[in-house]
Formats: sequence, C-alpha cells, structure tokens
Amino acid sequence: MRILALSLALLAAPAWSQSPRSGLEFQGEDIRRLQGDDFANPAMLWAERGAAAWQRKQGAANTSCADCHGAVEQSMRGVAARLPAWDARLGRVSTLEGRITACITREQRAAEPAPESHDLVGLLAYVALPSRGMPLRVDVAGPAQASFERGRELYAKRIGQMNLACTHCHDRQAGKTLLAEKISQGQPTAWPAYRMEWQAAGTLERRLRACFLGVRAEMPNYRDDDLVALQLYLAWRAQGLPLEAPGVRR
Ligand code: HEC
Ligand code: HEC
Repeated sequence: MRILALSLALLAAPAWSQSPRSGLEFQGEDIRRLQGDDFANPAMLWAERGAAAWQRKQGAANTSCADCHGAVEQSMRGVAARLPAWDARLGRVSTLEGRITACITREQRAAEPAPESHDLVGLLAYVALPSRGMPLRVDVAGPAQASFERGRELYAKRIGQMNLACTHCHDRQAGKTLLAEKISQGQPTAWPAYRMEWQAAGTLERRLRACFLGVRAEMPNYRDDDLVALQLYLAWRAQGLPLEAPGVRR
C-alpha cells in the first residue's frame, strides 16, 4: 500500500526538461565538502589501493598493468571519459571495468576479479583519476548503436512492483525528496564512488542495482549486457558533464 501510494505520488508530477546537472549538486554540504577535498575523500583510499594493484605483477603472464601501459597519467588520460565504448578485442560494448577485467584475464592471465572486489574498485578509481574534470563524450554510433538503443529503451521501461522507470525518478522528480534522500538526475559522473550507506567505495553497477532493488525489481547480474547498455546510455545522456570519479555520495 505504501509502495503504491509512493508510485502514484511520483507519477503525478509533470515532466519537465532540465539541463544536465551533477548529482553532487543534490547532495548535502557534508558530502560536497568530502568530495571537494582529496585528503578527506574516503574514495581516495581505494585509488591508493588501485595504484598498488597497477604495479603488482600477477597471473600466468607475471605482468603488471604498468609493464604494458606505463604511467597511468599518460596512458589512461581521457579513457574513463569516453567509456563505455565498442570494444574490438571483446566484440561488444564494454565499460572501463570490462576493459580492465579483460586485461586481467587475457593479458595477465589471472583469475577474473569478483564484482566489487576492493582491488578492482581501486583500479577503476585509479584509472579514472587522470580523466577527472574531462567532459564525458561517448561514441554511440556504428557498432555501439544497438547497445545504446537498448540502454535508452531500458531507461524508459517500467519495472518492479513500483512499476516505475528510471525516467520517472531521475527526469520528472529530480530535486524532490524520496524517503529522506534527494533524487538527482541519475548522472554517472561520480562513479566509482564512496557511498556512506555502504561504508565503502563501489561501482556504478552497484549503484544501479540499488535502484532496481529500490523499485522492487529483479536486479540484473553484475556485468550483464543490459547493465552495460544502461551505462552507455547514461554516459551519453551526461555528455559534457565533467567526470568527478572517484566521488562521494550519501
Ligand atoms: C524510485 C525512484 C528511482 C528510480 C525508479 C530509479 N532511481 Fe536511481 N536513484 C534514486 C535515488 C533516491 C538515488 C540516490 C540519490 C541520487 O543521487 O539521485 C538514485 C541514484 C542514482 C544514480 C547515482 C547518481 C549520483 O549522482 O550518484 C544513478 C546513476 C541512477 N540512480 C540511475 C538510475 C537508473 C539507470 C535507473 C533505472 C534502472 C534508476 N536510477 C531508477 C531513485 C531512483
Ligand atoms: C600484456 C599487456 C597488458 C597488460 C599486462 C595489461 N594490459 Fe590493459 N591493454 C592492453 C592492450 C593491448 C589493450 C588494448 C586492447 C584494444 O586495443 O582494445 C589494453 C587496454 C586497456 C584499457 C582500455 C584503454 C582504452 O583506451 O580503451 C584499460 C583501461 C586497460 N587496458 C587497463 C589495464 C589494467 C588496469 C591492467 C592491469 C590490471 C592492464 N590493463 C594490464 C595490454 C595490457
């Protein structure tokens, strides 16, 4: 009953169009302060972890990321701002996480890291750092187009017991408060991010799964093609907004 009332309240308001705004603007002063100061930002602990993982030799090939890619500041500059993208090596669209796990399994010949493992989230944070402040700009044409269209469709599709789509909350209700949380436009720019509720840094996929759970829908598996498609659509929708990763969220 409570769920139904909530869904109806969310559907009642009219749609309006907004220019893209970072989720940071919808956070409280405390969170903004943490993200604004790298010494206070708890996500930087993960980036440090990532820096160590970047140098560590592992797998049957006994190589490190640095052996092939050199310094992250040069080799990874701009990369996180233009992903997800079509990946010729994998023959599908992949995220930054998809590219990193492909390097771990195919290049280092090590075991695939578990979703949300600290080293993996650390590598995501560390690799994203040299692209901080760069505007998101993804290529959704050519071979990436099918995934993009799928992501767009999923974004508008009603799901779960609450029968709501992403757009109902993040386009129509941005700025409104839902169960003590201010709804943002659902932009992906902060991720990976430290989330207070998790007491840990996590990926955008973990955040998106929380939204599925929030509307009582079945959660897609980590690394599922649908989750990748949604992330491609979100990156396109956020075009021009600067990358903030690794960020901080409530
Ligand atoms: C019932 C409302 C609701 C629905 C439906 C919903 N979300 Fe969310 N979402 C939230 C809330 C609340 C938050 C946390 C506050 C915020 O940052 O907006 C959030 C956070 C996010 C964030 C993180 C934003 C940031 O700045 O950190 C993204 C990205 C996101 N949602 C995407 C989606 C996508 C994609 C879907 C559809 C699969 C979806 N959401 C469905 C309510 C919703
Ligand atoms: C044996 C060499 C090798 C190792 C070791 C290696 N990579 Fe790679 N990496 C590559 C190659 C080759 C590509 C480009 C593949 C392609 O063209 O699609 C690549 C691509 C990438 C990309 C995508 C870059 C882009 O421009 O889209 C990222 C991110 C990445 N690697 C991160 C890592 C990380 C993190 C590690 C360590 C965990 C690592 N790599 C280990 C060879 C390596």
